[in-house]
Amino acid sequence: MGAMRMPLPLMALAVVSAGVAQSALCAPEKMDAIVQTATAMQLQSVDTPKPGANQILIKVYAAGVNPVDWKRRPTQTTLPSGSVLAPIPGYDVAGVVDSVGTGVTNWKAGDAVVSRVTGAFAQYAVVNAEEVAPKPRRLTFEQAGAMPIAGVAGFALAEGANIQPGQRVAIIGAAGGAGSVAVDAAHAKGAKIIASAHSSQHSWLKEQRVEELVAYDKDNVAARIHGVDAALNTADGQADAALGYVKRGGYLVSISGLPTADKCTAAGVTCVQIRGTVPGKTQGESLRMLSRLAEDGKYTPRITKTYPLAEAAAAQQFARTGDSMGKIVLIVDPAKSKAH
Ligand SMILES: NC(=O)c1ccc[n+]([C@@H]2O[C@H](COP(=O)([O-])OP(=O)(O)OC[C@H]3O[C@@H](n4cnc5c(N)ncnc54)[C@H](OP(=O)(O)O)[C@@H]3O)[C@@H](O)[C@H]2O)c1
Repeated sequence: MGAMRMPLPLMALAVVSAGVAQSALCAPEKMDAIVQTATAMQLQSVDTPKPGANQILIKVYAAGVNPVDWKRRPTQTTLPSGSVLAPIPGYDVAGVVDSVGTGVTNWKAGDAVVSRVTGAFAQYAVVNAEEVAPKPRRLTFEQAGAMPIAGVAGFALAEGANIQPGQRVAIIGAAGGAGSVAVDAAHAKGAKIIASAHSSQHSWLKEQRVEELVAYDKDNVAARIHGVDAALNTADGQADAALGYVKRGGYLVSISGLPTADKCTAAGVTCVQIRGTVPGKTQGESLRMLSRLAEDGKYTPRITKTYPLAEAAAAQQFARTGDSMGKIVLIVDPAKSKAH
């Protein structure tokens, strides 16, 4: 008798290596990834990482681009599973679970997910299961790929400011990756927004229903923004100036540095530094809160430009020029990135 033929889905389950993964799609041994060399970012074929205990392997469909990608140089990493991950840049992914390590019970192969990872600019990425959030069903994978870093940062800015309905809230850098999310998150809390952004970005911000606009390249910003209930700062080097916009008893929340504690105390302002999460929450909890906001229709990532994975260097260069609005996303799987 010849070998018994299995239907394809069963075959996919059967290829799981003993003791490592409980269920799996079919990750190949090699994957395409952007590798950071001494002088450049290059598309290379590298080993596909394997999930260790309590980890999952994500098949990446889209990956967001963030300033931290070029601020923090990636290094080669040995994962708990023993696989060696090449120096791959990027932190934001949306995709589906390919396989799960031992101990993972809340995710299974095929689940649509979003996560912050190490080595996002690749066809596969490994992450601890607790850091993963469900992909909001109303978003495409392309949109969800922009969520983790800038989304959580923008959401955390609004969460940290104790915003009450009807309050006037300044957002510094409102057209940026995090700032554009802070606009949605502050609006969801009933705030009226005064946004500081480059004059070239004002018509785009008007479409986001921003109530008042100030041009940091043309206006005297301090003369236009004063006595606000809260200032949410996303612009590098602007935290001290933003403190002056806030009334006594108000909040300055920043993802990019704060004035000294003495200055905050003298101004009678509560200063809050955001460090990658909603205050008091883990990265995973923060991302799952943001995922619910998106599912409820109160937050939609604003993608203004996409690039194929192979053009990661060009995407990064465009993001760094300062001409970008909202988010830039790398399309890792063009056949799946537009799906919901
Ligand atoms: N602490 C955290 O958890 C956390 C999380 C995410 C990001 N970050 C950091 O936060 C910063 C912003 O991140 P991002 O992803 O939002 O970057 P981004 O997409 O580059 O946005 C920054 C925005 O700030 C604007 N801007 C620059 N100078 C300004 C000024 N003087 N006044 C008003 N707006 C100004 C920029 O406008 P132009 O386009 O005109 O330059 C841009 O729209 C980066 O330094 C990033 O590394 C921190």
